[in-house]
Amino acid sequence: IPVEPFDLVIFGGTGDLARRKILPGLFRRYCSGQMPRDARVIGAARTDMDETGYREMVAEAIREFGGGRACDDGTLDEFLGQIHYVSIDARGDSGWAELQDLMKGTDRVEAYYFSVAPGLFGDLAERLQSWGMADASARIVVEKPFGRDLRTARDLNATLARYFHETQIYRIDHYLGKETVQNLMAVRFGNMLFEPLWNSQYVDHIQITVAETVGVGGRGDYYDKSGAMRDMVQNHLMQLLCLIAMEPPARFDPDAVRDEKLKVIRALDPVEPHHIVRGQYLAEPGNEAAQPDYRTAVDNPRSRTESFVALKTAISNWRWAGTPFYMRTGKRMVARSSEITVVFKDTPHSIFGEEAGRHRNVLSIRLQPNEGITLGVTIKEPGPGGMRLIDVPLDMTFADALGPEGADQVDAYERLIMDVIRGNQTLFMRGDEVEAAWSWTDPIIEGWEARNDVPKPYDSGSTGPDAADQLMRRDGREWRKVSP
Ligand code: BG6
Repeated sequence: IPVEPFDLVIFGGTGDLARRKILPGLFRRYCSGQMPRDARVIGAARTDMDETGYREMVAEAIREFGGGRACDDGTLDEFLGQIHYVSIDARGDSGWAELQDLMKGTDRVEAYYFSVAPGLFGDLAERLQSWGMADASARIVVEKPFGRDLRTARDLNATLARYFHETQIYRIDHYLGKETVQNLMAVRFGNMLFEPLWNSQYVDHIQITVAETVGVGGRGDYYDKSGAMRDMVQNHLMQLLCLIAMEPPARFDPDAVRDEKLKVIRALDPVEPHHIVRGQYLAEPGNEAAQPDYRTAVDNPRSRTESFVALKTAISNWRWAGTPFYMRTGKRMVARSSEITVVFKDTPHSIFGEEAGRHRNVLSIRLQPNEGITLGVTIKEPGPGGMRLIDVPLDMTFADALGPEGADQVDAYERLIMDVIRGNQTLFMRGDEVEAAWSWTDPIIEGWEARNDVPKPYDSGSTGPDAADQLMRRDGREWRKVSP
């Protein structure tokens, strides 16, 4: 079903995110028929370029980063006809009259994507207003990082609030656009089976792993000032934690869902210093030139920024008191694998005797790759050997269960941009949520700074520092294997 006709202006239209995600994503939505034939995409950036030059850049980006099954060259030409470009100065006046002209008098949905450094958000918002483009129906989309601590996030929220109402602001956390992340809500709230057991009485612990094989690549400048805590935990991992732990919202509507997420963040316990492990990756042995250590990659020989974090926390509310939540994320790890695992408690009594073995139900929700959900169920070992128990997975890998068509994934950005056009904020972070998340991470980061904490080195291609495993072992538990 096509969305309404729209004009989408991408500030930072020549940047990395636009080329990798936004433009190819829009093209795929175009091919699928969801982006209407008369919608317009207007790239805006400082680069001096004409429309033809920009269209060539867009075509190249799409060739490099992917069209989709239903896309062909003819469709690409048509799509390019809907692309425009304005060379604009976010801090000056040049280009604004031209943009204003383009946007004048249309009664379509107007959206402005701020795919630029956060330092420019205020300038853009102010100019949109002074050039008469910030009317009540306009929407703005802002990318992370949304601040680097509570203070800067508050400032950013306050700046945007001067020009736009909260219902016009779409703060992107692309993890919320991932198929399985939404499936998490479908599984929890669309089945009778899980929710009665979804509490500390039945759940032993929950773990969330987001492991990446990539290093910091060409993003050293940004990354070294951020680290895994700001880059991943404060946003993506906390969002996952919220969805897994929140109370059922009364409706699947933006504020009902976000109210529940906010309550989770506010109920999070502070993290004790001995419940958190930071790591920094070493070079890949034998491949030092191509895969150097973190400090070489960011060109900062004394860097104390972490590329890995593992931590244990708890949620102090009626449902979860007593259930530990473990989270870890890191770069240059052994495999790319993101998974949320709910480990249920032992049965209260084994009627088969200890020799039959004891097994636990484990529900694992896999975000990437091989999206799917697996429930480990205990059954009798087949054969004549008496009553011995084994675990078998009830496996719902989406590609198997739904067939290749059904599992055809819509990329997170595609989905989220279409939600902006539809005016649905459910999968976007509200200002108070972002601030609450910083309130939780700030003391952790400040503690490291006060103690001059040095992250523990870990081998590229490993599962992080040993201390991260010990964090679990101390509690008699284990991380799930990180497997591709
Ligand atoms: C981004 C982080 O938000 O998410 C990156 O800034 C990280 O450092 C990326 O690599 C991971 O996203 P995905 O979708 O590849 O898991």
